[in-house]
Order: sequence, then C-alpha cells, then structure tokens
Amino acid sequence: MNKRIAVLAGDGIGPEVVRAGLRVLDEIAQKYGHQFETKQALIGGCAIDATGLPLPQETVDICKQSDAILLGAVGGPKWDTLPGEKRPEKGLLDIRKELQLFANLRPVSVFSSLSDASTLKKEIVKDVDLMIVRELTGGIYFGEPRERKEVDGEEVAIDTLKYTRSEIERIIRKGFELAKVRNKKVTSVDKANVLESSRLWREVAEDVAKDYPEIELEHMLVDNAAMQLIRSPKSLDVVVTENMFGDILSDEASMLTGSLGMLPSASLSAIGPSLYEPIHGSAPDIAGKGIANPLATIASVAMMLKYEFSLEKEAEAIEKAIDAVLDAGHRTVDLAQGEAARSTDEMTELVIQQIKAEAFV
Ligand code: IPM
Ligand code: MG
Repeated sequence: MNKRIAVLAGDGIGPEVVRAGLRVLDEIAQKYGHQFETKQALIGGCAIDATGLPLPQETVDICKQSDAILLGAVGGPKWDTLPGEKRPEKGLLDIRKELQLFANLRPVSVFSSLSDASTLKKEIVKDVDLMIVRELTGGIYFGEPRERKEVDGEEVAIDTLKYTRSEIERIIRKGFELAKVRNKKVTSVDKANVLESSRLWREVAEDVAKDYPEIELEHMLVDNAAMQLIRSPKSLDVVVTENMFGDILSDEASMLTGSLGMLPSASLSAIGPSLYEPIHGSAPDIAGKGIANPLATIASVAMMLKYEFSLEKEAEAIEKAIDAVLDAGHRTVDLAQGEAARSTDEMTELVIQQIKAEAFV
C-alpha cells in the first residue's frame, strides 16, 4: 500500500509525540511492506508565528491532497492572550470545518495492566471499553451569532447552540453503525429537559433507531451521563453526543484509563481524508522535556491504519505491542507509580521492539 499522510505536529508536546507516532508507522511500513509518504504542515501557534494565521491555506491544501492527517496538539501560553479568531485553537476548529471532520471517535479502553492507575476503584474501571462519538463540526463551537456587544450599557457575550436535522442524523447514524460491530447499544446523550437543540437531537435519534431494530437506543441527560461515567462506566458502550458535551465527557472518560495521555481519536470526514490525533492537548508544562506519553499518538496511528486504510492486522500489531509494553510494567511519568519513568523515546522504542518481535498477525 502506498499512502500520503499530512503531518501537523503543532505546538507544545505535539512535535515530540508525533515523532514517536511516525517512528512506529515506519516500523509498520517496513514490516508489512507499505509506503507512507509524509508531508509536514503548520497549524496552531507555530503557524501563527510563521505566517500570522493559525491555519494557513497551504496546510489546508496539503491536507486535501493527502490520504490521511496525523495531528499532534495546538496551543500554549505564548498565544493565550490573542483574540479568539487568532488563537491556535482556531486552526483546529477551522480544519475540522474545512475538511468536514464531523465524527470524532474517542475510544476509551482500560488496559488490564493499568486498571490500578485510575483514581477510581479497580473494580469500577477494569475492562471498561467504550466509544465516545462526538459531533465535531456543529453546535455551540460554530453557531452564529457569536459576538460581544453592549446592550443597555452592559457588556454581553453571545454563543449560539444550533443543530440542523441532517447534522444530527449523520452523527447518530455513525453511532449506530459503530454499535453494529460492537455491543449493539447506543446511548444518546443530550439535555432535552432544557435545550431545544437537544429535543431535536432526541427526535432524530428515535427516527434513526427505526433503521436499526437490532440495536438498543437509550437516552441519557448529560449531567446523568457525567455521573454514570464514573459510577458504572461498564454500562456504557457507544455514547453519541453533541460537540461540547463530547468535549467534556471525553476528558472525564480519559481518567478511567489513568491518564489523558492514553486516549487516541479519529475525526472522520464527510468528504475527504480524516484526521487522527491524541485527545490530550499541547501540555506546555512538560513540552521539550522528552517525558510526554507517546501512546495516545501511537494508538491514533493504529486508528488511522484501521479506519482510513483498512489495515486491520497492522493496527492490531500496534495495539498488541502497546498492551505488551504496559504489561511488562513500562510507564511514562504520567502513569508511573514509584517505578522509574520511561522517556518518550524509550517508550516508543519499546513499542517498536515489540512490533519487531511479534509474529505476523
Ligand atoms: C479537544 C480539545 C479542543 C476542543 C480544543 C483544543 C479547541 O479540547 O479536541 O477536545 O475543545 O475540541
Ligand atoms: Mg477537549
């Protein structure tokens, strides 16, 4: 297989973890006889520094000409005082919109060797395996009007939470499609007791469910979902929800695994190449120290192989290697409990050696 990958390393620990992901990708290419041609492009703070814009047109063009996109992270204190439209995060929001990356898949699985790494009790988190399906190109992140103005002599700020039926339908459908190959249950999360957009969301979920009689649909209010996630996470399987609820619930869910540094994601496009990124941010406090956990990015590479290129065996080889390295007791600093922590490079090398040693799956 011959594929082109746009690489958007971004800011903070982005470049370090992306380098780790690409090293693992190289190993897969060698072992399984594929060619992945990578092309770097700027996004976020580094793009602002170089061009004045968080998402230069050149980056959009490079992404559109690729088969998939690997992204690190954007943002940092250096750019925190810029106005909303000029912040690094705007680059991320714009690329989501530009490439119609509407379906953000955030799998949360607790590795058995890490079931005591969570702040929650082991029996609660052991064997958790759920999938958050977050709508990514609508809702309050993008609704208009968004503005600040003065009304009757007072400052007012406005954001708009807006969804169309078709936007809701395509993300709910994605949730049901995933449920088909998982445990045949969809939990649709909304705030239908308060929000009009949630009432439409719930109606559409009911309509879509008619096409999937074999799948159970459950509605859950978002405040309850936040509670159930830590009370009985094993009762959830596919969780489909709107943009901001998904943002918040996925950070919460990451704590089931013990570290935000463990969660990969795929942002699937309606029109072209999809984007793969760890869900952790740029972590400016540890950037440049070589201690960031590379596993979320390495697992994002596995998601790319699986979802974009249908390379199931290759994806599985990476997942098995991560599992084996953790099983052997290796930990980066975010997960270490007394034992000496591995650096980003050491952890990456361990995964690569494990892939080398694995029999072909
Ligand atoms: C995420 C992040 C982004 C979001 C930020 C960086 C804009 O938190 O991908 O979850 O809110 O979507
Ligand atoms: Mg987030």
